[in-house]
Amino acid sequence: MKKINKLRDSSPANLELSENLVHIWKARIYDSVLDIEKLHMEILSQEEKQRASRLRSAKDRMRFIVSRSLLRKSLSHYLDASPSEVRFTYNKYGKPNIDPEYHPENIRFNLSHSEDLALYAITQNREIGIDVEYIRKVNKADKIVSRFFSKEEGEFYHSQPNKKKNWAFFTLWTRKEAYSKARGMGIGLPTKEFDLQLVPPDIEHTDHIQMKNKDSKWSLINIEIDSDYLAALATEGNDFEISYWKFDDT
Ligand SMILES: CC(C)(COP(=O)(O)OP(=O)(O)OC[C@H]1O[C@@H](n2cnc3c(N)ncnc32)[C@H](O)[C@@H]1OP(=O)(O)O)[C@@H](O)C(=O)NCCC(=O)NCCS
Repeated sequence: MKKINKLRDSSPANLELSENLVHIWKARIYDSVLDIEKLHMEILSQEEKQRASRLRSAKDRMRFIVSRSLLRKSLSHYLDASPSEVRFTYNKYGKPNIDPEYHPENIRFNLSHSEDLALYAITQNREIGIDVEYIRKVNKADKIVSRFFSKEEGEFYHSQPNKKKNWAFFTLWTRKEAYSKARGMGIGLPTKEFDLQLVPPDIEHTDHIQMKNKDSKWSLINIEIDSDYLAALATEGNDFEISYWKFDDT
């Protein structure tokens, strides 16, 4: 059974996690009232400071510093560690995970950003992936669909009336990305070779899609996070409760 709660304006007092709970934190990157230099100095690791210094544009640098600091702040609620003490490991495709050598709680997370928005999905003992996209006009959408989407997904996309094509594109895109990210493989996962088995003609109200390859331990859900964005969450199993809220200090 899945339960999706309503978006809250701030984090709840009780931030206990278990494997049946998924917490999503939503943050604004560029409108935030945070002191960027303070975050940079006080929260980021040496390695992250170096990564920030390699970013040429001030906007990218700000995005990385705010997004990584807020990741550390949110995770520290679930770990016996301050934001600057959180340690990460990376898999061979670059997915960050919490280092189990320092943090035995088996907290799992994934994050995504697009334009001004960052989303952090956090749970325990199960893999998780999240993707958010600002809804925009996509150039050469048909080409992208034929390159990345399965045959059935392509048929679903092309069957939509023009005014719904953009929505269909980003619904498919975010779900595929969320699943690739939950698997930790990013572009290492051949996106054409798995299919979301959409339920035509209307997937708007379908929140649980089984994988065509019978990989039914995965759930894929679109989350209503903001009217200008589409977001999807992929996680193992189908028995969980999602709660989400805005970051208090952004
Ligand atoms: C990193 C990647 C996984 C997602 O990139 P993106 O959509 O541009 O960016 P998002 O904002 O959603 O996610 C970035 C975050 O995901 C995390 N991440 C990095 N590599 C990851 C991986 N292999 N798996 C899961 N998460 C990853 C990081 O925390 C990163 O944020 P950071 O750089 O600030 O630390 C990208 O390299 C990728 O492979 N995307 C899939 C591309 C694709 O083929 N899509 C087709 C969809 S139909």
